[in-house]
Amino acid sequence: MGARWALGGRGSARRYCRSATRPRLTSSNYVAHMDTDGLRTERLRLRRWDGNDRSPFADLNSDPLVMEYLPSILTRAESDAFVDRIEQHFDEHDYGLWAVELTETDEFVGFVGLRSVTFDAPFTPATEVGWRLARQFWGSGLAPEAAQAAIADGFQRLGLTEIVSFTSVINLKSRRVMEKLEMTQNDEDNFDHPAVVEGHPLRAHVLYRLASPTIAR
Ligand SMILES: CC(C)(COP(=O)(O)OP(=O)(O)OC[C@H]1O[C@@H](n2cnc3c(N)ncnc32)[C@H](O)[C@@H]1OP(=O)(O)O)[C@@H](O)C(=O)NCCC(=O)NCCS
Repeated sequence: MGARWALGGRGSARRYCRSATRPRLTSSNYVAHMDTDGLRTERLRLRRWDGNDRSPFADLNSDPLVMEYLPSILTRAESDAFVDRIEQHFDEHDYGLWAVELTETDEFVGFVGLRSVTFDAPFTPATEVGWRLARQFWGSGLAPEAAQAAIADGFQRLGLTEIVSFTSVINLKSRRVMEKLEMTQNDEDNFDHPAVVEGHPLRAHVLYRLASPTIAR
């Protein structure tokens, strides 16, 4: 039986599940359920990866619309190698990009989770929250719902003081998720991603920050 935990008075887990309309996501009502093998939200399971995830993950990584704001679509081998790196990150850090599935249907949706930023920038060292969902699951608030749980885990279990997120300036869908999570953006934090060549439209990036509620008070 896994532990259950929640943060903040206004957003008890019970009230969140019962609510007819989903409450606004704020840093004071982040809630999550933690099992021994991952996190649960109202509609989703966030768990470690298994072999069955690789095929649907390769499918979404080969979808040009999903990959529109990423450097390129991935081959099956590149997609599998990415899963290997994600699992290695979990082994090394005890957190990572979770495989996300719909509780109701067990369908693989994509990934959402935390990872350590690997490049040097004015805001590093840092832990980022990131997401990538298959196109058929867009538009229902699944990414912010899963991210809320991953962030709560980061602040509560891992004791992080700040979580960041970044994307190319023109990726408005991803920026919208950051805004729904009430992350804050300041133009002074804008940066050019070092892995993107100069002149490329995806090089200019925005940074969003979220402080742990325990230090933000
Ligand atoms: C970014 C992403 C994770 C959002 O996931 P999601 O579960 O659809 O998130 P939401 O439902 O909260 O939608 C966020 C915004 O995306 C846009 N959006 C959602 N569904 C869309 C669709 N089918 N077509 C176009 N835009 C859409 C809307 O602007 C929406 O904001 P709104 O709810 O205020 O209208 C998803 O679009 C995705 O996986 N994109 C590709 C991968 C990616 O860019 N990852 C980030 C790299 S930094």
